[in-house]
Formats: sequence, structure tokens, C-alpha cells
Amino acid sequence: MSDVWGSWLRERAELRAERGVERFDPVLRLGGRLPGGHDALDLASNDYLGLARDERVVAAAHDALDRYGASATASRLVTGTLPVHRDLEAALCRLTGQPSALAFSTGYAANLGVLTALSGRGAEILLDAHAHASLHDAARMSRVPYATFAHNDAVDLDRELAARPGRRVVVAVESIYSVLGDAAPLTTLVEVCRRHDALLVVDEAHGIGVAGRGRGLVHSLGLVGATDVVVTMTLSKALGSQGGAVLGSTALRNHLVNTARSFIFDTGLAPAAAGAATTAADLVVTDPSLADAVRANAQVIASLCGVEQSAGAVQSLPMPSPEAAVAACLDLRAEGVLVGCFRPPSVPDGVSRLRVTARADVTGEDLLQAAGRVARVARVARQRAPRPEGGAAVERSRAVDAPSTARGLPTVAAVEGPQDPASSSPLAQVPPHDTDG
Ligand SMILES: Cc1ncc(COP(=O)(O)O)c(C=O)c1O
Repeated sequence: MSDVWGSWLRERAELRAERGVERFDPVLRLGGRLPGGHDALDLASNDYLGLARDERVVAAAHDALDRYGASATASRLVTGTLPVHRDLEAALCRLTGQPSALAFSTGYAANLGVLTALSGRGAEILLDAHAHASLHDAARMSRVPYATFAHNDAVDLDRELAARPGRRVVVAVESIYSVLGDAAPLTTLVEVCRRHDALLVVDEAHGIGVAGRGRGLVHSLGLVGATDVVVTMTLSKALGSQGGAVLGSTALRNHLVNTARSFIFDTGLAPAAAGAATTAADLVVTDPSLADAVRANAQVIASLCGVEQSAGAVQSLPMPSPEAAVAACLDLRAEGVLVGCFRPPSVPDGVSRLRVTARADVTGEDLLQAAGRVARVARVARQRAPRPEGGAAVERSRAVDAPSTARGLPTVAAVEGPQDPASSSPLAQVPPHDTDG
């Protein structure tokens, strides 16, 4: 028997190794513990508010597990809709101020569902060039023409929309971008979309829990309730759970229930995840000091590291080369600090970075020490490897297998292992936009 597929897999693995973009998924930590048993400070994950291990959130997960069992056991339209899903959707409406919410099994599925269900025959999709891989994948699955416009550039969006007269266009952006931590100019984007009757989908994955005192950027800008602004979110970052949701009008919810394939043909969200996220959402509303703490801690990190504070939890430190970024991550890990490491091809602009996440629950002396170490290691890395990065590295890495995580925004990688395989992969990531080689 020939080993065609075994050889092919070996070849692909060799290519990845040669290009230095192999990813791993090691068991890294429980509550910040490194394999050697040392405590580590986690400035790499997306648990911005520290709710994943909050005892009230964990108790809510236990309660839902006890009441409803380990699984929803079926898709939502069969027998998989449980009272805990309704409770969750109500809590997400309280959190975001939106009239209606529909829970999905992941944020990824929510993005797939909303773009495919809102596009269709005669539609086109425009994505911000830094949009998350799930939005790119959703656009591809929509089987309609799609393109990108320059990151956060309302003028370019206007131009792209003007070039599509009479088309039904869905525009998708993030509110706060994951790698650079920058905010979308949502008010201007909405104005531009309205001029062209386009619909704006805003992924608040990194905005909820952080922006607008936790209730998201759309809420803080007074854009809630508009029928031409649709919000998506994940429950797996600031809410410390798992799952995703789409928020908007009741008519939108009904449309998704009837047409979103990633909702219809997917088992309902696990009860424990729904229970945990319900409590987490209510905690974000009742305790805005959580989001305030993220902002304050982000300021500490940014000022110690000598970068301008971003709009989100993520503070992004440019590194002179991918090698320097990896070395800095490893040095920091050895010093007990986990940070993300992003490098081409997963960074939208080809610049390798340390991604340092501010968290509500890493404060005081711990924060000062950790941020101080990050600042020192980053400084040394820059001095050690002053070589500027070019597009060549990006091009080189593009040919290798990379998961279609494609957005440009990598995610975290605590050194050799991703903390969050969903949004990030470790030392190497996916091509920003939509190629995966
Ligand atoms: C901007 C953005 N959208 C969507 C997702 C997908 O969410 P989930 O992990 O819940 O699938 C992520 C991260 O994983 C993200 O960073």
C-alpha cells in the first residue's frame, strides 16, 4: 500500500519546520502555572476581566450543568434550546442594550452565520483589511464577491462602496482590533455605510468587557438599536466562557434562526458555557470597575513599555524581527511572564510584535513587576536585533500551511504554545487576510 498521504503530511510538516512557522498546542498552565511548576503571570490570554475563574461564574456553570446536563444534545431548532439559552440571550441584551440576541456555539460560528445569512444572491461583502479570520472565512462561505478596504479607512470604504452602485453590500469590521488594540472609527463608518445603504456588521470580540465600560464600543457610541448596525461577539474572551452571539433587531434574529447554517446545523451551546456567560455578562453590567481596571492596567503597561496606550486591553510592542519577537517571548516565559508573540504572516502589516494583554485581575506589584520585565526584555531584544522587517518575510511565510485563521491579527502565543488556539496561534500564525498557502 502506498503512503501517499503520509508522505504529503511529512512534506508539509518539513516545509513548516523549514520556514519556522510550526505551531504547538502544549498544555501550558492552570491559573498561570508553567510546566516546571513555576507561577507565571498571564498577560497573553483573552480573559481580560479574570472571569474565567471567578467563583460566581464557575458556580453558574456548575448550576447549569446540574440542571441541564453536559450537553444541549441537539441543534437549537430540534430539542437543543434550553431555558439557559434564553437566559443567556436576555443577559446579552442587558449587556449590549440590543433588542435581540441569538447565541451560537462559538464566536466563529456567529460570524459565519451572520455574513452568510445576510449576503446571498446580489450581495457583496467588504471587510476591513485587518478583520478576523472568521470574517474572511464567512465571506468566502457566502459565495458572493468580496474584497477588503484599507484598515480603519472610511475614505477607502466610501470609494469601494461607490464602486458598487445598486449592490446590497455588507461591510464587516471589528470594534477593537485584536493585535494592535486599535478602535474602529465606528461613527464615521456608519455614516459612510448609510450613504450607500450598506449594512455594517461589527465584531465586538475584543470590545465587550473592555470598551464603553464593558458594554462595548457600539453601545458607548449610541449606535445600539439601529437596524443597519449588527453586532457579533464571542463569549470566550472578557466573559470567560465559550460561545458566541449575534445581536440586533428581532427581525434579524428571526432571519438568522431560519437561515444561518452555523446556527441551524450545529448543536446548541453547552449549558455550562451558557450559564457561565450569563453570569459573566451580568457581572460586567453591574461592576463597570472591571472594565475600568483593564483600562488603568493597560495604561501602566503602555507607559512602562513606552508605547501609546491602545483603545483595548491589548498593548502591542513592535519587534525588529520575528526571531527577536520569539526570543523575547521565550525570555519572558523564563522570567514567569506569558505574553503573546505575533509575527508574519499573521500580522497585518508584516511587523512582528509582542502582544501584552492588560487584565483586570493582574494588578499592583504583580503588574508593575511583569510590565517592567516586558519593557526590559523588549528593549534588549530591540538592541540585540536592530534589523528592520520587510515584506519578504511575509511573502516567504505565506506559502506554508497556515490555518485559515487569516486575519492579520494574530493572537496570543505564550511562547511555544498558544493560550488561545482560536484566536491565536503561537509563534507563527496565519496569513492576515485569507490565504493559507
Ligand atoms: C475578532 C474575533 N472574532 C471572532 C473570534 C472567534 O471567537 P471564538 O473564539 O468564540 O470562536 C475571535 C477569537 O477567537 C476574534 O478575535
